[in-house]
Parts: sequence; C-alpha cells; structure tokens
Amino acid sequence: MVSTKTLIAASLLGVFIATGCAVSNTYTEEELGLRKTDLYTEKTTVGDRTSYSKVAAGESKVIPRSFENAPPMISHDVEGMLPITKDANACTGCHLPEVAVAVKATPMPKSHFFDMRTQKMLTHMSEARYNCSACHAPQSANEPLVVNEFKPDYRKPNGAARSNLLDTLNEGVK
Ligand code: HEC
Ligand code: HEC
Repeated sequence: MVSTKTLIAASLLGVFIATGCAVSNTYTEEELGLRKTDLYTEKTTVGDRTSYSKVAAGESKVIPRSFENAPPMISHDVEGMLPITKDANACTGCHLPEVAVAVKATPMPKSHFFDMRTQKMLTHMSEARYNCSACHAPQSANEPLVVNEFKPDYRKPNGAARSNLLDTLNEGVK
C-alpha cells in the first residue's frame, strides 16, 4: 500500500510543477510594449522614419493587393499630388479609364462609376470617389513590429493585381 507520506509528497510535487513552470519568465517594463522604451514618458520614444517610394508614376512596380478587392496601395511617388483639392486632382488625370491605357496606369474600376445610394451606374466618376487618398495610400517601407502571417486567398487568378468589387458586392446578400 502507498503510504500517506508518499501521497502528500507526490501531490506537492505536482503543485510545484504546475505553478513553477508558469512563472519562470519575467519581463521588464521596457520590454513589455512594442516600442521597447520607457512606458511613462514619450521623451525617449522616437518613431521610425517613414520611407515612401520615390519612383515616379509610370516606372513603379505595383504592390500586390492585401486581399481580394482591397483598395490597392499607391506604388509610385505622390510628391506634388497631395492633398487633392477641389480644383486639383492629378490622380484622375492618369487613372480615369479613358486616359489610363495611354499612360499604362491601372484604370479606375467599375465601382468608382457607380452610385451606391441609388444602385445605378453613372456616366461619370462618382463624386464619392473624388478624394482618392481617403482610401488609397502610399506604402512606407518600414520593418513591421509584428510579422503579419495573413495569407490572402484570391478566387480569381489575377486577384492580387485586379479588383472586381462591383461584380461581387452583394454576394451572399441577394
Ligand atoms: C502621371 C500619371 C499618374 C498620376 C498623376 C497618378 N498615377 Fe497612380 N499610377 C500611374 C501608373 C502608370 C501606375 C502603374 C505603376 C507604375 O507604372 O508606376 C499607377 C499605379 C497606381 C496605383 C496602383 C494600382 C495597382 O494596380 O496596384 C494606385 C492605387 C494609384 N496609382 C493611385 C494614384 C493616386 C491616388 C494618385 C493621385 C494621388 C495617382 N495614382 C496619380 C500613373 C499615375
Ligand atoms: C471610398 C474609397 C475609395 C475612393 C475614394 C477611391 N477608391 Fe479606388 N478603390 C477602392 C477599392 C475598395 C478598390 C478595390 C475594389 C473595387 O472597387 O473594385 C479600388 C480600386 C481601385 C483601382 C484598381 C482597379 C483594378 O482594376 O484593380 C484603382 C486604379 C483605383 N481604385 C484608383 C482610384 C482613384 C484614382 C481614385 C480617386 C479619383 C480612387 N480610386 C478613389 C476604394 C476607393
């Protein structure tokens, strides 16, 4: 028969193993945050410098879409093009479908010529799309603080390079 003493010793050992392992790692406060500096002051905290593409439109390499029908990132330099104002929108000067082919720019898709409120196609670009930079942004080349392991699945073979939101907008709804 197992003695009471042995039983107590065995269960105590179990408790040590269960609790001891969990508390072996400790972190300093500076290690806790993503920025690895003092958490109580901003004085020593300097953000990474942004580094946007300096490659001119027409010479840049487009960035693969993050997921199916994601708004594409702007791959080229936007120096002098932003902010977009009532009187000046350089983007449409190259991306409206009628000019895009000639300058080898990706033409704006069908969804940008559609009125989401009335659900009707328009004969001109929807005013709701005028401010391109509300949705399309240039990409800064910085090391991500946390590795993104998301892998997109595109249903069409060219899904990383072309969008078709208007064709799929109401999928599963009607
Ligand atoms: C001088 C013509 C020109 C102007 C102005 C211009 N673009 Fe472009 N854009 C291009 C070309 C050409 C490409 C294709 C990549 C390349 O050749 O650099 C492109 C690529 C893009 C892409 C990536 C498309 C894709 O298929 O991934 C986006 C988004 C974009 N431009 C948005 C804009 C926005 C927003 C503006 C205004 C701030 C703008 N562009 C101004 C010519 C232009
Ligand atoms: C309200 C957000 C929004 C605004 C504003 C907007 N876009 Fe887009 N754009 C998108 C989204 C989302 C997509 C991808 C899905 C789709 O619509 O097909 C897209 C796709 C595109 C594409 C890729 C087309 C293709 O066939 O792959 C181009 C080029 C583009 N937009 C240019 C522009 C330009 C130029 C402007 C300004 C005149 C603009 N967009 C304004 C959200 C926006």
